[in-house]
Amino acid sequence: MKDDNYIRGNNAKHLWHPMGHPAASLEHPPTVITSAAQSSITDMDGHSTIDAVGGLWCVNLGYSNEVVKEAIAKQLYELPYYSAFAGTTNAAAIEASHMVREMFQEDGMARVFFTSGGSDSVETTLRLARQYHRLRGEPNRTKFISLKKGYHGTHFGGASVNGNNRFRINYEPLLPGCFHLPSPYPYRNPFNETDPATLAQNIAAAFEDEIAFQGAGSIAAFIMEPIQGAGGVIVPDASFMGFMRDICDRHGILMISDEVITGFGRTGDWSGARHYGVKPDMMSMAKGITSAYFPVGAALMSEKVADVFENDTTGDGAIFHGYTYSAHPVGAAAVIACINETLRLDTKTNAAARGKQLYEGALRLKDKYDVIGDVRGGEGLMTGIEVVSDKAAKTPMDMDSMKRIHKATYEAGTMVRLGMNNILMSPPLIITEEEVDIVLASLDAGFAAL
Ligand SMILES: Cc1ncc(COP(=O)(O)O)c(C=O)c1O
Repeated sequence: MKDDNYIRGNNAKHLWHPMGHPAASLEHPPTVITSAAQSSITDMDGHSTIDAVGGLWCVNLGYSNEVVKEAIAKQLYELPYYSAFAGTTNAAAIEASHMVREMFQEDGMARVFFTSGGSDSVETTLRLARQYHRLRGEPNRTKFISLKKGYHGTHFGGASVNGNNRFRINYEPLLPGCFHLPSPYPYRNPFNETDPATLAQNIAAAFEDEIAFQGAGSIAAFIMEPIQGAGGVIVPDASFMGFMRDICDRHGILMISDEVITGFGRTGDWSGARHYGVKPDMMSMAKGITSAYFPVGAALMSEKVADVFENDTTGDGAIFHGYTYSAHPVGAAAVIACINETLRLDTKTNAAARGKQLYEGALRLKDKYDVIGDVRGGEGLMTGIEVVSDKAAKTPMDMDSMKRIHKATYEAGTMVRLGMNNILMSPPLIITEEEVDIVLASLDAGFAAL
């Protein structure tokens, strides 16, 4: 590795960063993270903080899991790669798929298609949803419905069902036939409805209305995150996902649960759908599947979906979709180790307890600081704090002030993530009670510095 002068001198000079302006990165070079352990990270100035971002909602097991590291190293020496395109496979992928299937059997999942990450997993579900309907003799079912504020990655399909225009506008035109319903976001919604249960009913009615307008026979799937993450940690009423499931069932629409963040324990259950007592038809997974030790994602299919493909005798059930790194043996070894560790540590139970602590602490900060307009969370380790400059008018806080809060929070000992005027938190699921207290104290310092 080059010396510190080289790293500082070349920071952002050759690398374009995702989700940022290249000129801004040149003007304010990003913080260089040099090491990490458990739930903490250290930058190149030697400043250590709790990582309340969990990498990017993904380092569920923290940074020091030796079992996962060793499994990856061992697999690299045994078989670093071989293609899993039809005709060849590897032992790790066979075992990993069995384990993922078992973990999500309670959600009705029966088959696993490995990918390289969340966007790939979403794309796989969208494409296979269309193919499913074609195989069943309904080729006109091609449209997708999703929620505003939803985030489903950046491939063209995922961006087309994304519900936040900053991920869309510069890349339009997107996929035709994608329509969006309001988000279950009581703080801001077109119904002016603050009661989450009534809001859930209103969105369900809007869904019915949209289906009647589009024609049920033209809609392939409805995709949603059980709790919207990147959109601001938007926690729906407990009735919401069930309402949407019923409507999908009544109209022959597949339900895709995008579990890229919510899968593997973050909500306090092994999946977000299970948290709300819903069995989807497909799930998209990534992040917690390997805790980010290796880039892996997975699309999961229910028995109902799998039957249509597996009972096809025309040949049209062949899946002409996949990635060079689908079922990568090193990724699969990471999946096996990661699931073993996730189950051994029962990370969902800690996620529920620490999530409650973080949420309640954030609510206390809301009482203290007028700039906190809304606090969302309480359903596992996902917490959002929405910051406003005028509480009555709910005016979103300007970006310079958000950055000041972020900097002061970082200096006080915690890395948080900004999503527009929201502070987003998704720490490792192994975070301790004392560390959550540090996160809350750092946020307190961050708001005090404004
Ligand atoms: C719900 C959801 N879906 C899909 C994605 C895309 O995943 P990736 O960034 O791994 O492509 C994300 C990423 O944060 C996500 O939160």
